[in-house]
Amino acid sequence: MTQVDQPTEFDAKAADSGANATRVFQSKENAAGAQISQERVDEVATAAIKAIHEVIRDKQVTYEEYDALKAWMIQVGVDGEWPLFLDVWMEHVVEEVANAEREGSKGTIEGPYYVPDAPELPADCTLEMREDEAGTPLLFQGQVRALDGTPLAGAIVDIWHADDAGFYSQFAPGLPDWLFRARVTADDEGRYFINTMQPAPYQIPTDGSCGKLIAAAGWHAWRPAHIHLKVSAPDHQLITTQLYFEGGEYVETDIADAVKPELMLAPTPRADGSGNEVTYDFVLDPA
Ligand code: DHB
Ligand code: FE
Repeated sequence: MTQVDQPTEFDAKAADSGANATRVFQSKENAAGAQISQERVDEVATAAIKAIHEVIRDKQVTYEEYDALKAWMIQVGVDGEWPLFLDVWMEHVVEEVANAEREGSKGTIEGPYYVPDAPELPADCTLEMREDEAGTPLLFQGQVRALDGTPLAGAIVDIWHADDAGFYSQFAPGLPDWLFRARVTADDEGRYFINTMQPAPYQIPTDGSCGKLIAAAGWHAWRPAHIHLKVSAPDHQLITTQLYFEGGEYVETDIADAVKPELMLAPTPRADGSGNEVTYDFVLDPA
């Protein structure tokens, strides 16, 4: 018997993540219903198709390669991996365009693993975790302010991240639904004190179509360890972002190209020996 047909626990979990991301996206209100004008569809679709024509000419793409692409695109849908594909290879440019004019904190991609309506927690809190949760404890603290420095009382810090094995709750099976997911309400000074565990780097599922593309191209399949956030306050623009760990693996070579120098954390050991702590403040643009 070969090992090939025996998925490891990791593979089995990873395989489910793509399909679950499709299911969650389809359940979102505006998934397929956005009203985009005929004029705009014509403008963008024509430009996109032309751009691909240019690649075909420039690279002299063959029928063999064209058929390989067709087969691969069909399989991306079968695997439920369109959200993964788009969020890894396209979203960072959409985000760049969307947030070009912002003066406050930098944003970056949302990725496919956000779930709305996470449990609400007070400013000083501990995210849901399992008994004997693996990893390095992290106190993630900071303040939400307006551009002029005014603290934003009652700001919401919606946080989600992977566990110490790189898995996201509600996407990889076997994890508690709200593991490392919460909507934290900042205190009267816009401050938050969130106790959690440092996440591990995340690997794009290797057994699906995105993994096959990565292997066929000889790329690596990793994103650096990161914490996802949506930070909001009344009368201010919500920012969707991620924070990374200075010196962490894959920070320089993120497959999703979503790392920015402004988004780095450098945790230090806590005085009482209980893991690390780090401070990161957010500045929100006016609505
Ligand atoms: C993907 C996963 C992430 O955790 C992320 O932040 C961005 C993209 C993905 O698998 O597409
Ligand atoms: Fe992520």
